[in-house]
Amino acid sequence: MAYLASRVDLSCPALGRPLSKPELIAAIAGQVGVLSTLADTIDAEVFNAAPALKVVANYAVGFNNIDLVAARERGIVVTNTPGVLTEATADLTWALILGICRRVGEGDRLVREGRWTGWAPTQLLGADVAGATLGIVGLGRIGRAVARRAVGFGMGVLYTARRVVPEADPAWRMVPLATVLAESDIVSLHVPLTADTRHLIGARELSSMKRTAYLINTARGPVIDEAALGAALRARTIAGAGLDVYEHEPAVHPDLLACENALLLPHLGSATTTTRERMGQMAADNLLAVVEGRAPPNPVMS
Ligand code: DGY
Repeated sequence: MAYLASRVDLSCPALGRPLSKPELIAAIAGQVGVLSTLADTIDAEVFNAAPALKVVANYAVGFNNIDLVAARERGIVVTNTPGVLTEATADLTWALILGICRRVGEGDRLVREGRWTGWAPTQLLGADVAGATLGIVGLGRIGRAVARRAVGFGMGVLYTARRVVPEADPAWRMVPLATVLAESDIVSLHVPLTADTRHLIGARELSSMKRTAYLINTARGPVIDEAALGAALRARTIAGAGLDVYEHEPAVHPDLLACENALLLPHLGSATTTTRERMGQMAADNLLAVVEGRAPPNPVMS
C-alpha cells in the first residue's frame, strides 16, 4: 500500500468486505487505474462510470470477474498475477485432498463438540490417499504443481488438457475428461472459468465418477453445478468433495452445508502471507506500469 501511495494518488475504501456494485461504481468514477480483487465484478456498467480508466490490475491469477470484451472495446488494459500463487494453491488443494479423504473436518468437530468418547476401530474411517489415482482436470501451472506432489504419495496421475503439455511428466497419462472421471479416485479441478468450463461438472459427469471417488475444486465455483454436487453428496453417489470455491461466493449452497462429506473452505487457495504479498507487489507493478505509460508485465490481453 505504501509503495503505491508513494507513486500515485491512492484512494482505498477499507470496508472489510467486497464493495457492492453501487459502491464500486462510486469508488472507481474518475480513477485512471483500479486494483481489483476477484470479488469485484467489473463489467460494462462499471467501465461506463469510469471514462478515465486505463487499467484494471486484478489481484488474482483468475480474471473471470472482468468483462474483457468491454475492456478491450474501451482500450482498458487488464492484468493479473500469474505464477506467484501456484505453490500455495497446490498446497491448499492437498489440504483438501487429505482433509476430505481422512475426514479431518468431521474429526475436528467431534473433538471440539465434546462428542468423542474414545478410540474405536471403525471410527471415522476414510480412504487411502497413498497409491490412489489422481485425476487432474486442466494441467496448467497449478494442475502440474498438484500432480507433482502426488509422486510422494505413490499415486498414478491421469489428466485432461486442451493441448499437449510439454511440462507434463511422462508418467502422467493424458486422457479424455470421461476417462479422468471414470477412473480417478480423486478428481481435482484446475481450469479457468470460461463459457466452456461453466458447469463442466454437472449431474452427468458426477454420475460417471466412482462411488468411492472424491471431487476437489480450488479453481472457480461455477465450474461445478453446485446443486448437482449437493444431490450427489447427499445420495452418496460419490464419496465426498473438498471445495475452496463456490458458485455464488460468499454464499454456499445449503445442500453442501448440510453434507458431512463436504470439506468447505472460504477461498483460501493463495492465502499465505508471502503469496499475498507477492500478488500485491505484482498487481501494483502492473497498475503503475500502465498509469506511467509503460507496458505492464502481466497483461491478460494485448
Ligand atoms: C486467484 O488468484 O485466482 C485465486 O483464486 C485467488 O486466491
